[in-house]
Amino acid sequence: MDTITFTSKPNVLGNILVRVLSFAILVFLARFAYFLTVRTNSCPSSDLNFFSSVHQNHAVPTTTTAAALDGGDAATSGAHLRNYYSSVFQDLIAEGYLSPDSKALCIGTLAGNDVAALIEIGVSYSVGISENPSPPLVLYGRPVKQPFENNTFDFEFSGISGLDRSTEPAKFASEASRTLKPAGFFVVHTAAKDAYSLESLLSLFDSCTLIRSREIDGIREIVLQKVNREQHLSGISVNKCSVPGYKHELFRNAEPLITEEPLKPWITFKRNLRNIRYLPDMVDISFRNGYVYVDVGARNYGSSIGGWFENQYPKQNKAFDVYAIEADKAFHEEYI
Ligand SMILES: *[C@@H]1O[C@H](CO)[C@@H](O)[C@H](O)[C@H]1NC(C)=O
Repeated sequence: MDTITFTSKPNVLGNILVRVLSFAILVFLARFAYFLTVRTNSCPSSDLNFFSSVHQNHAVPTTTTAAALDGGDAATSGAHLRNYYSSVFQDLIAEGYLSPDSKALCIGTLAGNDVAALIEIGVSYSVGISENPSPPLVLYGRPVKQPFENNTFDFEFSGISGLDRSTEPAKFASEASRTLKPAGFFVVHTAAKDAYSLESLLSLFDSCTLIRSREIDGIREIVLQKVNREQHLSGISVNKCSVPGYKHELFRNAEPLITEEPLKPWITFKRNLRNIRYLPDMVDISFRNGYVYVDVGARNYGSSIGGWFENQYPKQNKAFDVYAIEADKAFHEEYI
């Protein structure tokens, strides 16, 4: 009886409540859908960047590695990792980048499984450095300030917990180049697989040349060789001025240029906003010297920096230096 009286009565208040509630749900769903459309796009690499921490957390070749990183069953995952590294290093021996006589260094190793694998396969002069040392295989050392002399190693390796996680990739790279012997090899594993991030990484190693890059188990393996400077510079043509193909592709994937000022901007605004493709939505922005956001004509803090950049811009967990340029002194106090 109760329900019948309830529904048959023109319950004005109930009706309004239901409407308000469904409207709120609709708005919530619309916002969510909008968020999804903005954050994902037709670019194939977008799924990598959608979860901006992918690079940090999923950057592991196998699930066993993930278990090791998470401190799972240490003994079994350690054995798995050693097997994994053994096969990686044996391939490198077969290709001539590593030999049993090599002096080898693993930079930023986690538990020394890479060092143990090197020793196991006969590269007996192998050592690792980490900020959490476990002697005798892993000594204390920061990747950005290696405790070794110039030109010490024939072979250096940075696994997924090395350069990929470094907050100072440029220093990391210059230290690796410094302690590597001329003609020595540096091998990097990285989760970043687009052409832009490869170019960024190569630009950090100005005394090295790219030997090869390939994909194994969902990560990219890059082999670099240290060359002497004159040799390296002679290979660079001074007068060459061209735009590499991967940059053309980035431009093709960017939003189209709006050639005419919209007559009804409030109608097209949302669509245009949805079309915007940010660089970090398309590529991995690791391996840069730094990250800067400049707001020209900043107005108040909330208009762009606080209202949009801090919350919306896909920063891939990088620390950005933020600058605001505003002529109107009335706004200056907001930035102090
Ligand atoms: C070691 O290398 C760095 C740069 O690669 C250089 O500045 C420094 O002078 C070198 N040190 C010695 C002792 O040669």
